[in-house]
Amino acid sequence: MKPPYPMHLDPTAEVAPRERRVYFEVFGCQMNKLDSELMLESLAARGYQLTHDPAEASVILYNTCSVREHAEERAIMRLQTFRERKEREPDLVLALLGCVAQHKEAELLERMPYLDLIVGTREFDQLPSLIDEAREASEPRLATEMDSPLVFQRRRNLGPQPWHAYVSVMRGCDMVCTYCIVPTTRGKEVSRPPEVILDEIERLAGDGVREVTLLGQTVNSYGKRLGAGVGLDTLLRGIEEIDGIERVRFITSHPRFMRPKLIEAMAECTKVTDYLHLPVQSGSDTMLARMKRTYDRAFYLKTIDRLRERIPGLHLATDFIVGFPGETDAEFEESLSLVHEVDFDHGYVFQYSPRPGTPSHALVDDVPRAEKKARNHALLRALEENGRRRNLDWVGRRVEVLVEGVSKLDPNRMAGRARDFRMVVFPRAPEDRPGCFVEVEVEETTAGTLVGRRIGPPSPDPIHPRRASADPGEVPGTPVEV
Ligand code: SAH
Ligand code: SF4
Ligand code: F3S
Repeated sequence: MKPPYPMHLDPTAEVAPRERRVYFEVFGCQMNKLDSELMLESLAARGYQLTHDPAEASVILYNTCSVREHAEERAIMRLQTFRERKEREPDLVLALLGCVAQHKEAELLERMPYLDLIVGTREFDQLPSLIDEAREASEPRLATEMDSPLVFQRRRNLGPQPWHAYVSVMRGCDMVCTYCIVPTTRGKEVSRPPEVILDEIERLAGDGVREVTLLGQTVNSYGKRLGAGVGLDTLLRGIEEIDGIERVRFITSHPRFMRPKLIEAMAECTKVTDYLHLPVQSGSDTMLARMKRTYDRAFYLKTIDRLRERIPGLHLATDFIVGFPGETDAEFEESLSLVHEVDFDHGYVFQYSPRPGTPSHALVDDVPRAEKKARNHALLRALEENGRRRNLDWVGRRVEVLVEGVSKLDPNRMAGRARDFRMVVFPRAPEDRPGCFVEVEVEETTAGTLVGRRIGPPSPDPIHPRRASADPGEVPGTPVEV
């Protein structure tokens, strides 16, 4: 059985005794995935081993997400399926970790008194000793202090892809978006010092990592409270100097902090990929004000103009929320029209979900469920149509693909990402390995994928010269010579 986030299993390792085997399911954002990898690292240091079969495990961990009610309930319901087993096997350790633990500790204790361990978003580095304590205790062990200092030092990359690593550059969020639970579950914004981050990336590069994704809830506000002059641009320029790292991405950015200094670093640093996820949430100024997003439509559009001016061919992704309290048809239409005005490549749409503890929870959730669904579909359709049209520009171009693995839909094809994070599929060759580079000529496209023929064998190193950003006229991808 495969958990939703398949962290490494070491096939060569001796099988650990049953009381050291852990089953781990992970919900939520990339931050939760990375936290889970860090937890697994501290567990492995104490002799624990991951198993993909819960029946073989004596410790069951669920790292959870609170961002929408559905995500929260899904994790809780899955954990509840272990209730009977817990009654039969009192030594089994059942643990709920992460944002739901932080957000709903009291409710969890009431609904699931048989839980052994509840760990919030700050004390996860203590997990092995917390498990020991939970084994001894007769009551559930709680670890949900928000002000405990979080110290983590990562030594290995335990993500599912050995050539890719997430790197946390900051934690928490200082924004006050009225719908959002994240500031409650993750606390105030704290940036890690740049030298610690660059040192970690250097070590990861030494272990064979080629691509890093820098993580933060508002990753582009990185550096706040670290002193003058330190920003995400500092990190991008530092990574540029690290041998072995070929591609850098960062998620998720907030429009407010897309400052000229950062745009300049994105344009100048050749390892920074042409991809930006810049959630807009709504196209309507009145909605943006009610959501307290701190910018308006004109500001967002101006930011996009600046980005495209310096980074032509930027792959732009976004998030929208539909059905926020009071959203009228006219306000929703402004989100629809923004899709075309910005010309997004990709986007996620979420139906508003009231979260207890957020400012908007006090507002009446007055957009009917059916209307939220209809708006969701309409907006998603517009985003997909736009993405499909923009993908057509790629037909006939050559792209450098970082191979991820065999295509899920067709075992005769490989799948990977172009430099701008577009998914590319192409015919498989026996020498193809995840983490290698292949040049592909795009022949056709769908809404989300480029499909093409391969040009030559896989290479351990990048094929295309990196983006020559000094030439603003250049579009990434090499036009095919005829
Ligand atoms: N830190 C990131 C992402 C936060 S959560 C950012 O600021 O962009 C990811 C996405 O979930 C958000 O962009 C938003 O679109 C959506 N989201 C957050 N709270 C929500 C809620 N209460 N209901 C529906 N969608 C929500
Ligand atoms: Fe939530 Fe807003 Fe912070 Fe993003 S910026 S995590 S949406 S509060
Ligand atoms: Fe969810 Fe927590 Fe991430 S609420 S989106 S797992 S920060």
